Amino acid sequence: MKKVRLGIAGLGHVGCGLISLIERQAELRLPGRVEIVGVSARSRHRARVVDVDKYTWFDDAATLAEHADVDVFVELMGGSDGPAKFAVETALKAGKPVVTANKALIAIHGQMLEALAQENGVDLMFEAAVAGGVPIVRVLRDSLTGVSVQRVSGILNGTCNYLTTEMLRSGQDYDEVLEAAQRLGYAEADPTLDVSGMDAAHKIAILSSIAFTADLDFDKVSVSGVENIQLPDLVLADRLGLRIKLIAEGILTDAGVVCRVATKALPVDHALARINGAENTIRVEADTLGAVTLTGPGAGAGPTASAVMGDISKLFTPTARSAFGRAEHHLVRHFEAAQLDERSAFFLRIKLSDKSGALAGLTEALAAHGVSVDKLVQDSADEAGASPVAIVTHTCSWRDMNQASDRVSGLASVIDEMRVIPIDPVAN
Ligand SMILES: NC(=O)c1ccc[n+]([C@@H]2O[C@H](COP(=O)([O-])OP(=O)(O)OC[C@H]3O[C@@H](n4cnc5c(N)ncnc54)[C@H](OP(=O)(O)O)[C@@H]3O)[C@@H](O)[C@H]2O)c1
Repeated sequence: MKKVRLGIAGLGHVGCGLISLIERQAELRLPGRVEIVGVSARSRHRARVVDVDKYTWFDDAATLAEHADVDVFVELMGGSDGPAKFAVETALKAGKPVVTANKALIAIHGQMLEALAQENGVDLMFEAAVAGGVPIVRVLRDSLTGVSVQRVSGILNGTCNYLTTEMLRSGQDYDEVLEAAQRLGYAEADPTLDVSGMDAAHKIAILSSIAFTADLDFDKVSVSGVENIQLPDLVLADRLGLRIKLIAEGILTDAGVVCRVATKALPVDHALARINGAENTIRVEADTLGAVTLTGPGAGAGPTASAVMGDISKLFTPTARSAFGRAEHHLVRHFEAAQLDERSAFFLRIKLSDKSGALAGLTEALAAHGVSVDKLVQDSADEAGASPVAIVTHTCSWRDMNQASDRVSGLASVIDEMRVIPIDPVAN
């Protein structure tokens, strides 16, 4: 029977999840046997959920990566630079295929590592780096080569989706829900990478590079998160038939590939609006195909380790296929910063002082830039005399909306900055 011998660096959630999968591989459908040559992590004597003492320990991940007995190097340490990058480079240079779950490393150095893999005639695989257990990399790279992708969009961070879903469900503020999520293990002790949108940005950059054969240029990805979302945004949007979610999207435009992560308001019957809690979902829109949506667990030891194992299983018959599915004859595109001539409807939320003419002043300021009101709800003023107003606009350009927003901020009746969130058209 064929066998693949692994060096595993990183023994945290995913690393230990992988080892426990390997230890019960008799139940799986792998093409052959998987063996562990050695393991590496930061602290040798740390208590772990699996017993790693029975495996040969390496203090240095790079030494393990180039060890003569290692057929495949598995990098599960994390971090875009430092030991993870060095060990992966070392493995590729030594002619060893690499499997990694490290989205930051691939989003920032993926193109360089891909070139190194190609030079050395080995595979670089990273299914687990995007949406954990959802097999979107393989689908985009290998199954959808016969379509021209126009847009890839999705909910790519379970923590952010959990927060917005749970705030609306429970009626609790952002801080309260985040604290509970940390207690329940749905959010990291330091949630910055997730709530800032950066984690989703790493993932959408990788998917966009594959989907559009685009050179990965992470600096061009525009990123914002959910830290500023307030409960009234979600509640008032709900009353207008909208759900606010953090959406990552890559769009093919005439100028290039626009890649961004930002909150969007989705009509309740939108395919992505129904994704609640910590799930991930990715929707690929392409000509001749229509839309394909994949949904599932985007994180966690089990789902992520299963994606790593799926990549390992492909390496029983290595192909040294381009990591991003590229071939020389492909039309190569570039990432482009977001543009303002895009058009959409918008969800707006604002607090106005409870004075006569305040609402008329607001709608006039919007109209002065061609932004007209489709739906509006206004609540009675609170004890401080602030009256919450939420608006759904008709479709207008993002440029007009930006200018209208600047004008609104200058109105004396406006109490705090207007919240402006684009609405994604219904997609089923
Ligand atoms: N967790 C998920 O659900 C998930 C989902 C998709 C992708 N990923 C990706 O998978 C990778 C691993 O994630 P994880 O959740 O398993 O992380 P984790 O639980 O924090 O584990 C990281 C492991 O790497 C080791 N490590 C960290 N820095 C190191 C260094 N400088 N030198 C040597 N070893 C080092 C740690 O060693 P010690 O244990 O000794 O400290 C630990 O064993 C990351 O790239 C992450 O983005 C994770």
